[in-house]
Amino acid sequence: MDFLHKIKKLKTVCDPETYSKAKLKVVRRLSRRSSKPLTPEFLVSQLNAEKAREIRSRYGIANPGIDWPKYVEFERWFSKYILRAKDLGLDFGPAKRILDIGSGAGFFLYVCRKLGHDCLGLDFLEGQDPGAAKFYTETFALFGLERVIWRIKPFVALPDLGAPFDLVTAFMICFDDHFEPHRWKRAEWEFFMDDLQSRMHPGGQIRLELNPGPGNQIFHTGVRELFEERGGIFDGSAYVTFGVEKDYHRRLRRIVRTT
Ligand SMILES: C[S@@+](CC[C@H](N)C(=O)[O-])C[C@H]1O[C@@H](n2cnc3c(N)ncnc32)[C@H](O)[C@@H]1O
Repeated sequence: MDFLHKIKKLKTVCDPETYSKAKLKVVRRLSRRSSKPLTPEFLVSQLNAEKAREIRSRYGIANPGIDWPKYVEFERWFSKYILRAKDLGLDFGPAKRILDIGSGAGFFLYVCRKLGHDCLGLDFLEGQDPGAAKFYTETFALFGLERVIWRIKPFVALPDLGAPFDLVTAFMICFDDHFEPHRWKRAEWEFFMDDLQSRMHPGGQIRLELNPGPGNQIFHTGVRELFEERGGIFDGSAYVTFGVEKDYHRRLRRIVRTT
């Protein structure tokens, strides 16, 4: 019996949760986006080895702590973003147009590009730490990625970003001035989310990872409530996704672990 037939049969005999889990498992198996195992080692092996070594040795420092030179550890960051890509189901199914806001060195987008998605980054240069700005520019070139240079400001719409997106991500967000007295509150986020939503295909997804502010507070005044009202699904302490069903990530993770 083939997979599709099995799945149709399951629908008639099992509960909705078991059915949707089984269906996701089959769809994932039938429409994988990479014939190679997606590992940090594989991703590094696809880079210009000499250029990668040179960039890493020029920017690497001992004990970088939380500062940007921590990003010279390519394998570590690829590991994290392979998992994030799988969390979003990007390792199977149709190609997507993806925008990554505050794209930094470009690790997430490089994983997505290797999975055949159409990727665009967004980051700022002026006013940025000059070392970080240069490093991000060089890694974007090394990874063969494109980005728009733009500094996000409260109540200012994003520039023209071309065709609508299927997915917008922002990991370890800093554009909301999370450690400043004027950290974004509900009104700033509402403006930003309305603007983002207008640049997406219907049914698109937005995935945000917030950084904690003072007192380790992840969601500033009224922000969690706003995200809830807009249908955000919370996942872990700092992640919220819009445009997915409840339990989407949990279900995907369970399947990723078992296949
Ligand atoms: C902590 S880093 C995270 C980088 C990347 N998202 C990652 O997960 O590896 C924050 C990123 O946001 C960018 N950023 C901070 N403020 C921004 C702003 N106002 N507009 C655009 N990008 C900003 C920084 O330049 C940096 O690339």
